Amino acid sequence: MLWPITAVRDPQGELTIGGVRVSELAAEYGTPLYLYDAATIRARCRAYRDACAAAYPRSRVVYAGKAYLGAAILGIIAEEGLWLDVVSGGELVFAVRAGFPPERIVLHGNNKSAEELALARRLGIGEIVVDNHHEIDLLETLARELPGSFDVLLRINPGIDAHTHEYRKTGIVDSKFGLLIAPGDAARAVERLLAIPGVRLRGYHAHVGSQINELEPFVAAVDVLFGFAAEMRARFGVVPEQISPGGGLGIQYLAGEPEPDIAAYAELVAGAVARAAAREEFEPPLLAVEPGRSIIGPAGVAVYRVGAIKEIPGIRRYVCVDGGMGDNIRPALYGAEYTAELADRAGGDGAPVTLAGKYCESGDVLIGAVTLPEPRAGDLVVIPAAGAYCLAMASNYNLALRPAVVLVGEEEGAARLIQRRETYDDLLTREVGQVGARSGSS
Ligand code: LLP
Repeated sequence: MLWPITAVRDPQGELTIGGVRVSELAAEYGTPLYLYDAATIRARCRAYRDACAAAYPRSRVVYAGKAYLGAAILGIIAEEGLWLDVVSGGELVFAVRAGFPPERIVLHGNNKSAEELALARRLGIGEIVVDNHHEIDLLETLARELPGSFDVLLRINPGIDAHTHEYRKTGIVDSKFGLLIAPGDAARAVERLLAIPGVRLRGYHAHVGSQINELEPFVAAVDVLFGFAAEMRARFGVVPEQISPGGGLGIQYLAGEPEPDIAAYAELVAGAVARAAAREEFEPPLLAVEPGRSIIGPAGVAVYRVGAIKEIPGIRRYVCVDGGMGDNIRPALYGAEYTAELADRAGGDGAPVTLAGKYCESGDVLIGAVTLPEPRAGDLVVIPAAGAYCLAMASNYNLALRPAVVLVGEEEGAARLIQRRETYDDLLTREVGQVGARSGSS
């Protein structure tokens, strides 16, 4: 699916989402604007939950908040019964202050600090995914200084090369993430974790990458985890209560692209876990999956207003919008491809145009070639599948103001602002001192 499930064109050809015209939302909240459809988020949470529950006796769905964290969105994730994966002190504190239950939070990260680990312990979070030996050093110190307990998973680097952008591969041998099995790093980590008071090693985790459209790498990761688990049982007598093949299922960005199927994914992964557990003679452990993009990506739509249009005869027509690489770095960073439409007129014919942003950078192009129906200044451009890793990676480059976010789809025809647009005042809030005023002088 490319668009949120509640998106339709009304009889006048206007795009409506959750029963609200996008043009009305743009008029009320300004642009660039990000819209999230609550109905789509809930449907995707349930698709994961139900498919996992149907395919496997004990499963857990953990939303990877790095794809997009918003307090209102977390409310939906919590209500749908999912857990939450965070990767920094910032995400952790944000989630807890927003009211997400700490006992359902999992902390990831390849370079967690002592402060982040102590914070996690004080907040009483559900689990920590241990990534490396430096982190184990920190946990040993923490066990002495701040007694308490931690449930931990050990992140294994499975050495699997999934087909995705180089920057999105996380499970290849040459990766900063996870512990390698072959040189004995992972086994040594198990031995060390078992010796730390208060640390309970619950199982093993692997993550092969993101925006993965084929299912085999997930199965391969499961097999590696169980092979390792069997070895650890033989050496240390430890049995995994949980196995997690991470997240990473892709989504559709362009019409006609194949759409990865959540139910097929869940069935395949669950089948792989059940088979591997039987083969290695383990009780079937809890299966945890960790989707981010495939829950939130299709629920989000970016809305921009067209300004300047530049025609270079015989070469190209640039249609410039009021956002760009500051709110969506993915095209510039990964060559990610998107499609677009106009909010108030369907269709598209004539020569394709280049959809450029407003940042002072030639690479600030959102879409290299897209066909739109005669775009003019003032038109609203909408980009689907913009819910994941756009706002989450947004910056203030050129001191642009980060967009407002509106939630629709809670009730037909209703919309609510869930994050206000940044203001010029916000840009100065962290500044210390002013032109002409030297700090420290008396
Ligand atoms: N679990 C772990 C340990 C991860 O590292 C990630 C993503 C996920 C779960 C969620 O993966 P997802 O289901 O969202 O694919 N900025 C990149 C994606 C980076 C993903 C990093 N890790 C992009 O825009 O494509």
